[in-house]
Amino acid sequence: MRLSRYFLPVLKETPSEAQIVSHRYMLRAGMIKQASAGIYSWLPLGFKVLRKIEDIVHQEQARAGHIAMLMPTLQSADLWRESGRYDDYGAEMLRMSDRHGRDMLYGPTNEELITDIFRSHVGSYKDLPLTLYHVQWKFRDEIRPRFGVMRGREFLMKDGYNFDLTKEDALHAYNRHLVSYLRTYERMGLQAIPMRADSGPIGGDDTHEFLVLAETGESEVFYDSQITDLKFGDREIDFDSHEQCQAVLEEFTSRYARTDETHDETLFNQIPEERRRTARGIEVGQIFYFGTKYSEPMGATVQDSDGNKVPVHMGSHGIGVSRLLGAIIEASHDDKGIIWPEGVTPFHAGIVNLKQGDAEADAACEALYASLTALGLEPLYDDRNERAGGKFATMDLIGLPWRITVGPRGLKNGVVELTSRRTGESEELAPEQAVERIAAIYKKVLPGS
Ligand SMILES: Nc1ncnc2c1ncn2[C@@H]1O[C@H](COP(=O)(O)OP(=O)(O)OP(=O)(O)O)[C@@H](O)[C@H]1O
Ligand SMILES: [Mg+2]
Repeated sequence: MRLSRYFLPVLKETPSEAQIVSHRYMLRAGMIKQASAGIYSWLPLGFKVLRKIEDIVHQEQARAGHIAMLMPTLQSADLWRESGRYDDYGAEMLRMSDRHGRDMLYGPTNEELITDIFRSHVGSYKDLPLTLYHVQWKFRDEIRPRFGVMRGREFLMKDGYNFDLTKEDALHAYNRHLVSYLRTYERMGLQAIPMRADSGPIGGDDTHEFLVLAETGESEVFYDSQITDLKFGDREIDFDSHEQCQAVLEEFTSRYARTDETHDETLFNQIPEERRRTARGIEVGQIFYFGTKYSEPMGATVQDSDGNKVPVHMGSHGIGVSRLLGAIIEASHDDKGIIWPEGVTPFHAGIVNLKQGDAEADAACEALYASLTALGLEPLYDDRNERAGGKFATMDLIGLPWRITVGPRGLKNGVVELTSRRTGESEELAPEQAVERIAAIYKKVLPGS
């Protein structure tokens, strides 16, 4: 993409309505525009990152053996009356009626809809285990939408639902989700810590929330500092193996880590004092096992091997896809702007032409652009007639992890400058070498390359 042809409405001033850094930078970098309270348009740069995050979610769901589908945003109230949640959900549910006077709602979550699909099509234990998921917009009429996409009213969520014959199998599905979420967040450059949580209106006993530590987080969290040393990394795992998934769960949840809802002072104080941490965190996902809470009232049963009809054991598992943009920025920025982790960056590298119109500089930029593109990478070329300072400020604000700076002076010596957004360190290299370096960095990050 050439910046002269892109749509990147960068703001010079800091928007006064934004209270936290991620919201400020998303507005300033022209990623989102508020449409009404808690509802946003995703401008091209923001949309690109949203898509990258969604892609990682899909890839990791596929790896775990979960099956993608798509359910509608609008649901019939009747299903929610069956589960008993139509009245329970309260004012957070956006309710409406169609021209025939039928009660409808904009889905805040999908347990009812998926249970209805399941009971219509599955009747035998032989069709289990089954995990279906989708990535779809949700609406919750939050009392206080704030912090931009972090607490929106309309937001994008990955929600998945497992159907199993036994509690043991359903707990394996729970563990499998925990493992796949660890991988998912790490690929986005995040450390998200599973913490014992409260189940809220979804219901159930077993539940963990995934929290990214950040001062601006809305949840108060308490944990054993040893937990932040844990990394999932690129270990191979067999998602069908109950033992392997259980072992990961134990590794990542055996140390104390809880949100304020489940915090227990007595247990916490058993940890050596120097390891006790109190901090704030952003909830980026949650997994639940809730057994037959929906399958029983809604009649989602299968025949077991003895021919008995039994309600299936279920769980649901959510990732806050749109909230993740905010969480990533909260975790990765400096006073000049965003610093995207390579896994989610909207463009892989920026090319800054210091002297637009200079034949040699223009040609060198075009060549870099072509080489990166040929390797399957997406550069953003700042080809505007702007001062160097302005170009650097834009690149720093939008946070591309690598920048190649091209100018007549360097070209005389056959070099361009490669700069890391994270460290600020620069190196002079031949243009081909800069391309190779960038390709090597992304080879580790991009699947299938
Ligand atoms: N209003 C919102 N705006 C953006 N993302 C949200 C919002 N509510 C929930 N999410 C995201 O969706 C994920 C799954 O939804 P879940 O039902 O667990 O939310 P929740 O526990 O009600 O969230 P919260 O406690 O933050 O209100 C959450 O972990 C969070 O990342
Ligand atoms: Mg939650």
